[in-house]
Amino acid sequence: MRSAFLIMALLLSSQAYAATPSALLKQYELQAKQENAAFAGFSAAKGERFFHAERLHSDGKKVSCATCHTADPRNPGKTRASKVIDAMAVNVNPQRLSDEAKVEKWFGRNCKDVLERHCTAQEKGDFISYLLSIK
Ligand code: HEC
Repeated sequence: MRSAFLIMALLLSSQAYAATPSALLKQYELQAKQENAAFAGFSAAKGERFFHAERLHSDGKKVSCATCHTADPRNPGKTRASKVIDAMAVNVNPQRLSDEAKVEKWFGRNCKDVLERHCTAQEKGDFISYLLSIK
């Protein structure tokens, strides 16, 4: 009885940081509406193009999200230092998009890395829709 109570308490406290992909999408939707009054929803197809789009970085190298995450988000990727990155597709890796702080931290780093700016809420929502659309 007592341990069941403890487990419940632990589960509830970890909820504070947990998220679901659909809760994240809701948040980005609110932000996207603030950023753009003409916001017309998220698109997995746009997210897919965004993921693959190569940009010429100011350091002269071509880079895209797929550079590290590979062209297929169902596959594990690699950092520049050759450390393995787990698959991004939520179907393959249910850990993905389950921790809001982690998602925001890595959007922050990776958008800077690839776009040399922050991603918009539209881009984040499109990207998440793409990851969720992969079976
Ligand atoms: C230089 C390599 C690199 C590039 C380029 C890159 N990423 Fe990542 N990404 C990582 C690493 C490393 C992690 C964290 C390790 C992990 O979660 O397995 C990560 C994690 C993430 C996460 C966290 C997801 C979660 O819930 O765990 C998101 C979101 C993400 N990347 C989006 C992007 C997007 C969008 C782009 C393109 C704009 C991109 N990444 C480009 C290396 C990269």
